[in-house]
Amino acid sequence: MPHPATPAGSDPPVGDRPRLLVTAGPTWEPVDEVRFLGNRSSGRMGLEIARAAHESDLPVTLLLGPGVADPHVGTGPSEPHAIRFQTAAELDARLRECWPAHDLLVMAAAVADHRPIRRPGDPPKRRRRDGPVTIDLEPVPDLLAGLADIPHPGTRVGFALEPAGELETSAREKLGRKRLHAIIANPLETMDAADVDGRLLLPDGHERRPPSSPCSKAAFADWLVPTLVRIHRSRTG
Ligand code: CTP
Repeated sequence: MPHPATPAGSDPPVGDRPRLLVTAGPTWEPVDEVRFLGNRSSGRMGLEIARAAHESDLPVTLLLGPGVADPHVGTGPSEPHAIRFQTAAELDARLRECWPAHDLLVMAAAVADHRPIRRPGDPPKRRRRDGPVTIDLEPVPDLLAGLADIPHPGTRVGFALEPAGELETSAREKLGRKRLHAIIANPLETMDAADVDGRLLLPDGHERRPPSSPCSKAAFADWLVPTLVRIHRSRTG
């Protein structure tokens, strides 16, 4: 039987099965009451990771972004536990609530780098007749880096989607800057694509790759989940 991960502050890990927290999909940052800035993330990689963890009988909580229809996640007791978010601020709040009750975080969500600054008195709907519109953007905090400040023995894993020519350098820089235990480096072309050509970079300079690559996102997730569980176990003894 699958074991859904429990909400924040509740049960300890069940046996040696790490509890996974997986994020998937884009963020939508409101411009006004009817429009948003989003990105092209399909959410498929994160969904496949949640599915693979669930099928391995690991407790899993999925934080799922807007506009992602999920074939795997429903409301039945045998489905992974899914919680929806829209904005980066909502995702940050859900992460901070959930992370203490999990052991392994896989951050596949495509979080906005910038969001519109909304000021008091802004119209609820910007109208065409008002002429050209300027939208000021502010940087979004780095959610993953922020989680490293929370005392927690767990394993934090990020994604880096980078132009192929600078994949390794940029992904390794993010691995260090975000204080991660591993990062999945993917060429930029992966976004919204059916297949993935990813590898897992570790802080000691080593890397792991799936047995055949490129491969489907499902096959990548089936390889990734047990690989991350082994890394988590070897870190935490
Ligand atoms: N991420 C995050 N918070 C952000 C942006 C990204 O937690 N505001 C996470 C993503 O979920 C991903 C990892 O950080 O796991 C790398 O995301 P990426 O967009 O590649 O990195 P950035 O920090 O945005 O760096 P850059 O703008 O230089 O690409």
